[in-house]
Amino acid sequence: MTPFGIDLGTTNSCIAYVDESGRPVVVKNALGEETTPSAVYFERAGHAVIGSAARNSALLAPHLVVQSIKRQMGRPDAEYTFHGERFTPEKISALLLRRLAVDAERQTAGPVRDVVITVPAYFGVAEREATRRAGRIAGLNVVDLLDEPVAAALSRLRRQPVPGVRHLLVYDLGGGTFDTTVIEASGQDIRVVCTDGDLRLGGTDWDERIIAFLTAAFTEQTGLDPTADEHFMQEVRITAEQLKKELSSTVSRHRNLRFAGAVARVELSRQRLEELTADLLDRTMEITARTVEKARAAGVDRIDEVLLVGGMTKMPVIAERLEELLGLRPHRHERDLAVARGAALFALTRQARTAGGRSDGGAEEVADRLGITAAEGDALVARRVAGVLPPGHRDEDRRPQGSAGDDRSAAGAKLHPPSAPGGHPAADQHRSDHHRHRSGQPARGRDRDLGTEESGQLDRTGRQHPGGLRPASRLAPGAAEGHSPPARDLHGRDRSADRARQRTDVGQGDAVRAADRRHGRRRRGGRPRVRGRYRTTL
Ligand SMILES: Nc1ncnc2c1ncn2[C@@H]1O[C@H](COP(=O)(O)OP(=O)(O)OP(=O)(O)O)[C@@H](O)[C@H]1O
Ligand SMILES: [Mg+2]
Repeated sequence: MTPFGIDLGTTNSCIAYVDESGRPVVVKNALGEETTPSAVYFERAGHAVIGSAARNSALLAPHLVVQSIKRQMGRPDAEYTFHGERFTPEKISALLLRRLAVDAERQTAGPVRDVVITVPAYFGVAEREATRRAGRIAGLNVVDLLDEPVAAALSRLRRQPVPGVRHLLVYDLGGGTFDTTVIEASGQDIRVVCTDGDLRLGGTDWDERIIAFLTAAFTEQTGLDPTADEHFMQEVRITAEQLKKELSSTVSRHRNLRFAGAVARVELSRQRLEELTADLLDRTMEITARTVEKARAAGVDRIDEVLLVGGMTKMPVIAERLEELLGLRPHRHERDLAVARGAALFALTRQARTAGGRSDGGAEEVADRLGITAAEGDALVARRVAGVLPPGHRDEDRRPQGSAGDDRSAAGAKLHPPSAPGGHPAADQHRSDHHRHRSGQPARGRDRDLGTEESGQLDRTGRQHPGGLRPASRLAPGAAEGHSPPARDLHGRDRSADRARQRTDVGQGDAVRAADRRHGRRRRGGRPRVRGRYRTTL
């Protein structure tokens, strides 16, 4: 069965697999997009719209749209209610994952079951467990989680063994977060040397600056202040992001802004955009320089290649500044797709290795399927990936603690940071796990990662607090209840898009029953009650 790699992003998600020729291929969704916005619109009970249409729905029904759910992963207090049903971040993420899986099933005409999901290098135990749980709720078998920068490096290196030792710096600027990681590749081994970043720095910060610029220009021209008007501000938000993207390939753009019968024509040039956001870019450069310094302290004497990852790195100024800083022209590869592609390659490696451990010639089967030689198949199986060196961790924390070269024993990859730069909201959640490990007490987080996933998840789940915080912006009391769904043409869908409407049920199976148990929902007769069989459409 073909394994898949999934980049479950804050802003956009992507799914890929390795085809018969050994190429990692990104699956387009039913709308023909290579990435699907990580937005969920709870249109009505039992039905969620995913992707671009969901994102656009934020304009008219912001209280029914969830975006950037990745930022809430692992938070025991994050909970949402839509149409009378409660949702944890992982259940919402499961809707996204299920949608990606359905699109992949449609394109490959095969089942999607075994997946590798990527996570940011800074994700701690709680966030990683939540990600695994999301996969299980979506009915997927999460064979492993992979750090995003490692996935990007794998995508770059493909199956080629690296002669000698090479160091790659991955600069990843996405919609909501920035991270930079130094990776060492040698032969078939890939390891993280160090990682750093700012969890609160991303494309939306650039958008905010453009929004401020546009609204100030509107006020200057018309004498009106539209900033209290939610609808206007939502529209300006969309306009700002569009302008930002367009200015990556053109040098100037204008827009007409309308409010209360007044119209203002506002011009924005690439140069002005760069001035408005110079401090944000400077911040990423400072962090990059710091990361290089850390790598140097860990014995890395040169960076051989710079990889750009994340939609924001399409801004030309980023490559220019990195070249100034590091004296290297960054590699402009598949910036939006590299992480999913690398995850697909890794998923295949895992499958080949599992098959290789059997005596039924499974490894040759995988090699055959990929049209590669037995030697290449062996090389694939031999590839070792050591993941995270969390921010602030000592090198010895990352080194394999079991038998040399066994990536499952590369326990450092499984030791997750107590906190991360930028103050990740979930950091506190796993601080105690970290402390226990560092203080020589049982390393619970590590045990879970080494194979007690099931019990670990249930333990963790059992501690979650169902009546916790509800993000205020979308959950004013009763706001999600009784809302009549907006008109269908809100999404701009035509009849041809109906083909995209395939039934996917999320909210069934063991994992969901576990989630229901967590919320104390029980069927009469003591069996967990399964609620929320969600149909998702694009
Ligand atoms: N051509 C472009 N020029 C400038 N910015 C762009 C361009 N295309 C996309 N972006 C921006 O990239 C960001 C999304 O990047 P990406 O899809 O890599 O994020 P993500 O992986 O979902 O987020 P994260 O890495 O924070 O989890 C958005 O802010 C978007 O506006
Ligand atoms: Mg990303």
